[in-house]
Amino acid sequence: MPGQIPLIGEKFPEMEVVTTHGKFKLPDRFKGKWFVLYSHPADFTPVCTTEFVAFAKRYEDFKKLNTELIGLSVDSTWSHIKWAEWIKDKFNVEIPFPIIADPMGKVAGKLGLLHAASATHTVRAVFIVDPKGIIRAILYYPAELGRNISEILRMVKGFQVVDKYGVALPANWPNNEIIGERAIVPPASTVNEAKERLKNYECFDWWLCHKEVPQEEVEAVKKLLKG
Ligand code: BEZ
Repeated sequence: MPGQIPLIGEKFPEMEVVTTHGKFKLPDRFKGKWFVLYSHPADFTPVCTTEFVAFAKRYEDFKKLNTELIGLSVDSTWSHIKWAEWIKDKFNVEIPFPIIADPMGKVAGKLGLLHAASATHTVRAVFIVDPKGIIRAILYYPAELGRNISEILRMVKGFQVVDKYGVALPANWPNNEIIGERAIVPPASTVNEAKERLKNYECFDWWLCHKEVPQEEVEAVKKLLKG
């Protein structure tokens, strides 16, 4: 019976991990930074290889967002190192971030990454964790579909805009079908607030009001989406 798995809004579980960059503690290692922990089913598999190349190529974009990357699978450090060498030889791409080696599945078990009762491989998952160590998003993908790295960057940038300006962001932001690149004002929770919303913002109704986001934030996220 698996233990309780972490959920959005909870602190990332404290643990020591063994990685290709040595042992360290999570989430403390990245205190004050965002981090994206992503798991893959196995080293030396085709989709996972394309994902590692894709994450590595966008590493500088993550760093510009004060965000670190960390990979994870149930393979050993030796396997991770050899696979990274192979990727460098074939595609001339360095993997500049640590990869957790979890051959006993201890980390995978704590994070809920072994999905079928009989599973011995980690599912493709993404945890986006904020500078306070709080899990802000968890995504799961199947083995046969590689991740879209621009979307993960959009999410990190989106969370940073949400936190800085106290807003929510619409579908497909910054290219939303109704309000374009604007942000949603969180819904009112009192009668007075509802009236104020209609006076102070552009609204379709008091529960759907929107406002401008500084242009530099919009330009920054559009640049990330272009790759
Ligand atoms: C892949 O990365 O291609 C893969 C990994 C596990 C199962 C199937 C495919």
